[in-house]
Amino acid sequence: NVTRREDYNEPDWRVPEIALDLDLDPAATRVRTTLWVERGGVHDRPLRLDGDGLTALSVKVDGAETMDWHMDGPNLVVPLSGSAHTIETEVEIAPERNTQLQGLYASSGMLCTQCEAEGFRRITFFPDRPDVLSRYKVKLTADKTRFPVLLANGDPIAQGELDGGKHWAEWHDPFLKPSYLFALVAGDLVANRGTFTTMSGREVQLGIWVRAPDLAKTDHALHALKLSMAWDEKVYGREYDLDVFNIVAVDDFNFGAMENKGLNVFNSRYILADPDTATDYDYDAIAAVVAHEYFHNWSGNRVTCRDWFQLSLKEGFTVFRDQSFSADQGSAAVKRIEDVRGLRASQFPEDAGPLAHPVRPDEYIEISNFYTATIYNKGAEVIRMMATILGPEKFRAATDLYFDRFDGTAATCEDFVQCMEQAGGVDLTQFRRWYSQAGTPRVSATLAQEGGRARLSLRQLVPPTPGQPVKEPMVLPLKLKLFGGFTGRPMCDEQLILLKEDAQELLFENLSETPVLSINRGFSAPIVVETNRTAKDLAFLSAHDDDPFARYEAMQQLMLDTLVTSVTNGGTDHAAVIEAVRNTLTDSALDRAFVAEAVLLPSDSFIGDQMAVVEPEAIFRAREALRADLGKALEAEWRAAYEGSLANRFEYSPSAKGARRLKTVSLGYIAASGAADADQLAFDQFSLADNMTDRQGGLTTLVNGASPLREEALEAFYQRYQGNGLVLDKWFQAQALSTREDTAEMVERLVAHRDFTLSNPNRARSLIGAFSVNQRAFHDVSGRGYRFVADQLIALDKLNPQTAAKLIPPLGRWKRFDEARAAKMRAELERIVATPGLSKDMFEQASKSLD
Ligand code: ARG
Ligand code: ZN
Repeated sequence: NVTRREDYNEPDWRVPEIALDLDLDPAATRVRTTLWVERGGVHDRPLRLDGDGLTALSVKVDGAETMDWHMDGPNLVVPLSGSAHTIETEVEIAPERNTQLQGLYASSGMLCTQCEAEGFRRITFFPDRPDVLSRYKVKLTADKTRFPVLLANGDPIAQGELDGGKHWAEWHDPFLKPSYLFALVAGDLVANRGTFTTMSGREVQLGIWVRAPDLAKTDHALHALKLSMAWDEKVYGREYDLDVFNIVAVDDFNFGAMENKGLNVFNSRYILADPDTATDYDYDAIAAVVAHEYFHNWSGNRVTCRDWFQLSLKEGFTVFRDQSFSADQGSAAVKRIEDVRGLRASQFPEDAGPLAHPVRPDEYIEISNFYTATIYNKGAEVIRMMATILGPEKFRAATDLYFDRFDGTAATCEDFVQCMEQAGGVDLTQFRRWYSQAGTPRVSATLAQEGGRARLSLRQLVPPTPGQPVKEPMVLPLKLKLFGGFTGRPMCDEQLILLKEDAQELLFENLSETPVLSINRGFSAPIVVETNRTAKDLAFLSAHDDDPFARYEAMQQLMLDTLVTSVTNGGTDHAAVIEAVRNTLTDSALDRAFVAEAVLLPSDSFIGDQMAVVEPEAIFRAREALRADLGKALEAEWRAAYEGSLANRFEYSPSAKGARRLKTVSLGYIAASGAADADQLAFDQFSLADNMTDRQGGLTTLVNGASPLREEALEAFYQRYQGNGLVLDKWFQAQALSTREDTAEMVERLVAHRDFTLSNPNRARSLIGAFSVNQRAFHDVSGRGYRFVADQLIALDKLNPQTAAKLIPPLGRWKRFDEARAAKMRAELERIVATPGLSKDMFEQASKSLD
């Protein structure tokens, strides 16, 4: 049951207009739908409407009840003779029994929808594909006490009261949209309201809708929305187009949020924030996701995707846009470091594993499985590379052309690239391989000096991936620069070179001193670079490079080299890392947020990614040893950094965030040093904090340790936040991520905790998802971690296949481990595949992971 990109055909029938009439009730919702359909081109095929779990109660053609229809599996087929007809259907659905959280479902007493990618067909029969664009009229009727607020896409047109305690509201969306952008919400909600006046003078009513007790936690999201609206006008010339823009926060949601036209629906974790319950990370993520969904209004809604193989057209571009927005709100360098860390943590392993796929895939079994780091984050890197190649003015001209040319249509990645070529005056023929070839390119860069000349030899290799054994060379935009190894002075301006061949050489003449190479500055290409730089070169760059990302990168490379050496050869020479960290830590000219990022050791799993065979326990021990040495050797410096980062009271600003980050990083090193007062310091930070960032920092430090204060802190945290689901997620997550030896055992106990449930996706991810990326605990040689996760995923699949399938990849990494572990991981995947009634989401992920 595979869908292929090459099989694309235009829709047989178009639906220029649709009217929906929903009589909402959690147990039984009536959906009456009228479709105005038009035959597309010359053919005699019947009207085929997608359905999923629907039973037609009645079908009318041109106003008359008909029996001339049949089901083809879940879909409704209606033979039609003319070229335009009116079709009316009626179905009944039960939102309160919808545990998949796709289509219309109930969450904490409200009713809401999630239709992307194929959820609309769970609400009504429709050609549920993104290239069928319609004008929507929606009438909602519901009990007025339970559902006093009735929202849908577009503008509110009319409302009224009915007998029997019911009321209704009608919404019209004047913009053409595909069914995946349909949304409705009904509930007992209140709004934090605001207004935004667009650049052409349109006043937009903004509303962030939540349950009454959460109203005080919505200011940050509302502020972020206004910033986003202004930013898209300034940077892309894109203006909002309706009179209202609503966002609703719901507790049960399969992913982050959804860009439904004029009615974004959000996972409440990306809306609700106050200093007592949300970390700086949460605040930043809220702003980024609010921006992301808002930006989709143009990159996704006004211009949508022709088919789901083009998903990165909207997602890659929109991630690039939200990353640029966030970079503009604070430190661009720190934002880039965070984004690259995220790419390396999720996309690189995906690209190197059994689920690797191109940014524009060629086939899928279940499209939900393709909302991946490759589509989103590598997709964003592909857009970023084109922006780099074109430069800012031409890139803006190209996006103007794209929005202008494809407004109101469903476009392809190819359409986007053609706009880049035309407005940019460049030929991107070879560059297009970024869309078709999977796998992370590897570049080796060797700098050889001969007197006053230096020769840089570059080689690229794109590794084989499933279904793509042989690769062609890619276009890799590499920013590079040379620094004098003696004076530290730049020896040339930064150059942008395009590596297009398998191998290329560059000559540098008239050098007055030994050069040190700074390459892939700003992470200009999403690749792995191997160089012949020594520990001394890397330490030098970590102190002197004038690109902050490159400084960070040099330090990371130095740490990685050191750690990989100690894992493989048992080496413990930590002097170079200690000196480099000391330099950065004591450089008062540096932004503290940058320092905090730079002095952090690479994660266990990123260290593992550098090795032929991952050795979880040895990696953990090598990393702990280096942490301890850094802690001891620089104890005075960590304490100074800690003291220097204390603040009188909470403030959300880039510098205050940087200070809090460095404070907790320093606390971690003080604890690693084994200092006698470390536990008390962590406990004091935990209990005296006036914000969640510091409190969580204290808690996680204790949770990794063995102090009696650990239990006390966990209990105090639990008591304080019992009843706040989003904060309890942090409580579960901190324990699932613990580096302690007994984590697997603790996590197994936590599934029996009265606050644990698989039916809330955030809760499931906070324990099961977090545990499965805890390399040491998950990969315990006994295999208990694998068995535990497989048991949980089999149970979760029965409720919510989408969320379950997302958690398969850690088990799919078996090839990276020794035979004993690999066999145990495979056995669990096989057990999953053999489970009766398995969803196609899970089947696709688990069976592909076995290949
Ligand atoms: N379009 C949404 C966003 O990026 C996410 C939808 C995810 N859908 C899915 N089936 N996984 O903001
Ligand atoms: Zn998106």
